[in-house]
Amino acid sequence: MRRYVAINPADQSLSVERDTVPQPAAGELLIEVCAAGLNRADLLQRAGHYPPPEDASPIMGLEVSGRVAAIGAGVEGWAVGDRVCALTHGGGYADWALAPASQSLPVPASIDLEAAAGLPEALFTVWHNLFQRARLQAGERVLIHGGASGIGTLAIQACRALGADVYSTAGSAEKCAALEALGATRAFNYREEDFEQALAGLGLANRIEVILDMVGGDFIQKNFNVAAPEARLVSIAFIRGFKAEVNFAPLLFKRLTFTGSTLRAQSFAQKAVMKEEILQHLYPHLDSGALRPVIDRVFPLEEVDAAQQWMQGGTHTGKILLRM
Ligand SMILES: NC(=O)c1ccc[n+]([C@@H]2O[C@H](COP(=O)([O-])OP(=O)(O)OC[C@H]3O[C@@H](n4cnc5c(N)ncnc54)[C@H](OP(=O)(O)O)[C@@H]3O)[C@@H](O)[C@H]2O)c1
Repeated sequence: MRRYVAINPADQSLSVERDTVPQPAAGELLIEVCAAGLNRADLLQRAGHYPPPEDASPIMGLEVSGRVAAIGAGVEGWAVGDRVCALTHGGGYADWALAPASQSLPVPASIDLEAAAGLPEALFTVWHNLFQRARLQAGERVLIHGGASGIGTLAIQACRALGADVYSTAGSAEKCAALEALGATRAFNYREEDFEQALAGLGLANRIEVILDMVGGDFIQKNFNVAAPEARLVSIAFIRGFKAEVNFAPLLFKRLTFTGSTLRAQSFAQKAVMKEEILQHLYPHLDSGALRPVIDRVFPLEEVDAAQQWMQGGTHTGKILLRM
């Protein structure tokens, strides 16, 4: 039997239920799950604001780590028992999960199998937005908002490993110190200093070439202001709000590119391309130890409600996991 987390539609409460273990279709792996990563999207899905795509599992959970338990038709390169971490098509909050093989990655020997549950969503999101969309190059300056998030902690390390000069923002002095320890040249506590003024104080007014933003709201204008000529600005969320009054003049005068994306809405084929590029460009840094998942806390599956409340509380740095 499989244990999985169900959402009660009447009051959005969570419970651990049981059903039969699913079998992999063509192109899929069945994974005996070691751990699942929490994502902010799970909180939205639970509240009914982020319905899963029609062909996806209705069970929460976008990423897992574990061991390959069965292999669907047409899948090559995997053996039963292999250590794997994967972007699921939903269904990660369970002790058995399916994932497209094209979104499944080997877990390097240097990475703990449980901690690897914190990798897939961040690897795909960071690679797609910073490197495919924003085309970040070695030697460029990058500003990463929400640096203490699961996405931010991996983004800082990846940008640093690939030769960028990294700046970040977070909501406390402790978080900023952690981000500088991960490789940020400077992290700004947005509750105490204005990042636009702080960058100007460092002689970096108009000198940020790439910005990864999940904050939005009043950060949008400041992003336009700190951007260098030809800078690329990528939005992946709008935690402070989708609406803002913005003076767009810098877009013209500095020839900026302003873009954004969601990972889940992209096709299996697009994610397969991301996987190949992640293996080529980021895996050497996982193997060397320059890149690692930052794990804040691990909760047992039965404490899934407490785990989501911990994420909602916002004091974490890095990923929150569910242990099966
Ligand atoms: N578009 C995509 O494809 C995609 C994919 C994955 C994730 N995301 C988004 O990326 C974000 C990070 O995801 P996650 O799962 O890693 O979540 P997470 O760990 O909960 O991170 C959210 C971060 O937002 C910061 N934050 C919260 N309120 C803020 C505010 N008012 N002003 C500034 N910062 C604030 C928090 O840090 P502080 O304490 O520093 O405020 C926290 O580190 C989420 O918004 C998620 O929805 C998007």
